Amino acid sequence: MSDKTRIYGKVVEINTKQVKDFYNERAKALKDSLSTVNLQTDSEASKKRDSHEKEHIIPKLELNLNEKVFEFGCGFGRFAEALRGNIGSYLGVDISDELIALAKTKFAENANFQFIEGDTGSLAENPHLIGVGYSLLMTMGVSTYLNDDEVKALYGLFCKISAPNARIYIRESVALIPERLTLNGFWSDNLQQKYTAIYRTIPEYEALLKIFNDNGFKLEESGFAYPSVPENAETTQFYFILKR
Ligand SMILES: C[S@@+](CC[C@H](N)C(=O)[O-])C[C@H]1O[C@@H](n2cnc3c(N)ncnc32)[C@H](O)[C@@H]1O
Repeated sequence: MSDKTRIYGKVVEINTKQVKDFYNERAKALKDSLSTVNLQTDSEASKKRDSHEKEHIIPKLELNLNEKVFEFGCGFGRFAEALRGNIGSYLGVDISDELIALAKTKFAENANFQFIEGDTGSLAENPHLIGVGYSLLMTMGVSTYLNDDEVKALYGLFCKISAPNARIYIRESVALIPERLTLNGFWSDNLQQKYTAIYRTIPEYEALLKIFNDNGFKLEESGFAYPSVPENAETTQFYFILKR
């Protein structure tokens, strides 16, 4: 029987409000536990993913103390925690007001770390982003929750607000099957919540990344984000690092 909440191939618009409510509920229930944002129910697996990403990716980003970092979909500042003391300034944006409130509390003593509530629509109209010249732009596990036009708007925004020598780090859940998979209010027994996300194929992401080539960036590296991809998995995490 076909399931209207689990859709293969077809491009289906997802509801941003559902995603916002999903993360706000998790933030209220689980606070700043890693599971709030990486959706793993096993806390050991959660910790391993978090430390693997920080250990493997941060050295590749070649941070310096003048770094101006922009992160879209920053959650409660999980990745930002690893940047404290290693960069100049940081701006994190997230649609979940609950997660932004947690992040502000965690970084209350770090005036160079700012967090604001927003999405691709509100950012496009934010005049403060223009002229900063961000040197490192990142988004991890967020494009999955954006419709195609919003991903295009986000990657376009990255091009517009980045410095001439900028680097970009993108890590996303992707489909390993030949076509995209959309979960649209799908009941997850694991999460005990309805779940909404778009798992694009790697070629679909490669096509979306073309805007970066058109703006002088080159793909430096890409690959699976974590060491093991379970056999027969339909989705997994994949990353791209681009440099200009
Ligand atoms: C899987 S979590 C990852 C959080 C963070 N990037 C990390 O790696 O810890 C996805 C995040 O994307 C945010 N998000 C989802 N849709 C968004 C949108 N349209 N605009 C901004 N943030 C969004 C969620 O609130 C959540 O914090």
